[in-house]
Amino acid sequence: MPSTSDSRRTRLVCLAGFMGSGKSTIGQLLARQAGHRFIDLDTRIEERSGLSIREFFERQGEARFRELEHETLLLILGEIAEKGQPAVLALGGGTYARPGNQAALREQGAAVVWLDCPVDELFARCATITNRPLFRDEASFRELFLQRLPSYQMAEHRVESTGDPRNVVSQILSLQLFERVSA
Ligand code: S3P
Repeated sequence: MPSTSDSRRTRLVCLAGFMGSGKSTIGQLLARQAGHRFIDLDTRIEERSGLSIREFFERQGEARFRELEHETLLLILGEIAEKGQPAVLALGGGTYARPGNQAALREQGAAVVWLDCPVDELFARCATITNRPLFRDEASFRELFLQRLPSYQMAEHRVESTGDPRNVVSQILSLQLFERVSA
C-alpha cells in the first residue's frame, strides 16, 4: 500500500473501473464532498466530437474512439497541470486498460482508484441502460471484464463499489489522497 504522506498526495484522483462500477456517480459525489472540480472523460469526448459515445462508435468505430479518448485525456491532464487546482476525473471503462493512458496518468502523478464490483452486479446495473456501445450480451460483457481485470488490478488503490455510493465516497476520502491546498 502506498503511504499517504504529503509527498504522495496528489492534485488528481482518477476513478477507474468497468462499465457500471459507478465512476461518474461516485466521482461527482466525491468531488462535491472534497470541494474539488469534477471532470468526466466521456462527457469531454462527447463535447469535443459533438457526438454521443454511441454515435461516435457507430460512425467512426472503436479504434478512432480510443485515439480520441487518449487525446482528450492528455488535454485534461495538461489543463490540470496548468491550473494547479485539484480535481476528480472519472475515466471511461476502457481508459485504464490502455498502457498509454496508464503511463500518462503516472507521469502526471495521478492517484488511480479502482472501483471494484462483482461482475454479476455490473451486469445487472448495465442491463437496463441501452447507451453503451460495448454492452452487447452477457457472454461478451463477462469476457471483456475478465480481459480488463488485470489492468484494473494495477491501480494503486482499490475500493469496493457496492452498496450506497456515499459509503464508497467515504472509503475514498479515508485514503487521504488529495494534497492539502492552501486557500
Ligand atoms: C467503454 C465504457 C464507456 C465509454 C465507452 C467505452 C468501455 O464508459 O467510455 O462506451 O470500453 O468499457 P463507462 O464505463 O462510463 O460506461
